[in-house]
Amino acid sequence: MTDEILPALAYRPLDLPPVDLETIANVREFEAPARERIHEAAWAYLAGGAWDGHTIRANDRAFDGFRLRPRVLRDVASVSPMTTILGRAAAMPVGIAPAALHALAHPDAELATARAAAAEGTIVTVSTVASRTIEDVAAAAPDARRWFQLYVQHDWDQTRSLVERAAAAGYEAIVVTVDLPVLGYRDDLLRVRFDPGPGAYANLPLRDTWRAGRELDELIDLRNVPMTWERLDEIRSWAPLPLILKGIMTGEDARLGIDHGADGIWVSNHGGRQLDRVHAPIEVLEEVVDAVEGRAEVYMDGGIRRGTDVLVALGLGATAVFTARPLLWALACAGEPGVVHALRILKEEVARALALLGAASPAEVTRDHVSPARGIARP
Ligand code: GLV
Repeated sequence: MTDEILPALAYRPLDLPPVDLETIANVREFEAPARERIHEAAWAYLAGGAWDGHTIRANDRAFDGFRLRPRVLRDVASVSPMTTILGRAAAMPVGIAPAALHALAHPDAELATARAAAAEGTIVTVSTVASRTIEDVAAAAPDARRWFQLYVQHDWDQTRSLVERAAAAGYEAIVVTVDLPVLGYRDDLLRVRFDPGPGAYANLPLRDTWRAGRELDELIDLRNVPMTWERLDEIRSWAPLPLILKGIMTGEDARLGIDHGADGIWVSNHGGRQLDRVHAPIEVLEEVVDAVEGRAEVYMDGGIRRGTDVLVALGLGATAVFTARPLLWALACAGEPGVVHALRILKEEVARALALLGAASPAEVTRDHVSPARGIARP
């Protein structure tokens, strides 16, 4: 199956030698060499935001609105980034967020990303619109903590089958993306008429006729799917797995999610790719955490590039954070070893930042460790 997919993929990455990982000291440094390796149209798709990009920029800059409040002379001799996520150990509070079509970055695609997650003891969230099948990723990385990201399809049976396949293949949670009733207005995609080809999406049925000239959300059958809170209850009944809602940006929706039995609330604006001019997730994290009142775990993605970003999020109440683009760039630069290197950098940065914050583990980071940037201490 997997070999049949690659010939059908448009926008293949360029076959350049891997980047010397010794030269990469932080995950932002993967971006420039990745851009040299990824096809121009694929780059526009993966890197791009929606509308004017206010939100994608805000995701990065919003961390400037917070400061860490370090405590000294604490016992941090044996600091560890280990944590617990959904009741199981994780080597660090940073996981891999879902992103479409890893084959646009590297031929090993999600197989490499999942193996890297297994090697570094963290969670990988595999997308509905992955380049490799749910089952192939599971076989490549049976020991990885794998979550499955679900896009609800027009075809309800097909949606159910995705959930059942993930459960059968040992994925441990279903992450339902709730912020894509239609695709955001993405100028770059319209300009290049982004179309990776009918065989690009390993988990979706090969449709008889590839609907040439359609927009991406129509191609992958996501446009205007009638998805409401009531339908969520049915999705929950399909598999005995924790259900996480990804794309929550308000306290109101977090509360509704909890009322509908969500086990996790994932604060996200889809990497700035959906509605523009919304807040950065880090700005609404506290509102969501307050609304959830400890009834579920809260995660976030959006702009996480440094261990210090991770600690700000933990301080504001996140159990863990996720990131996608830097890891995709690492994949493009050097395949699986690239992603391993990126995860190790993040792990080392988290450990070192914890020690400097005076916390021996992620669990010891509290709201008192974060304040608004003007230096006003929290009450
Ligand atoms: C989702 O798959 C996206 O393109 O953001």
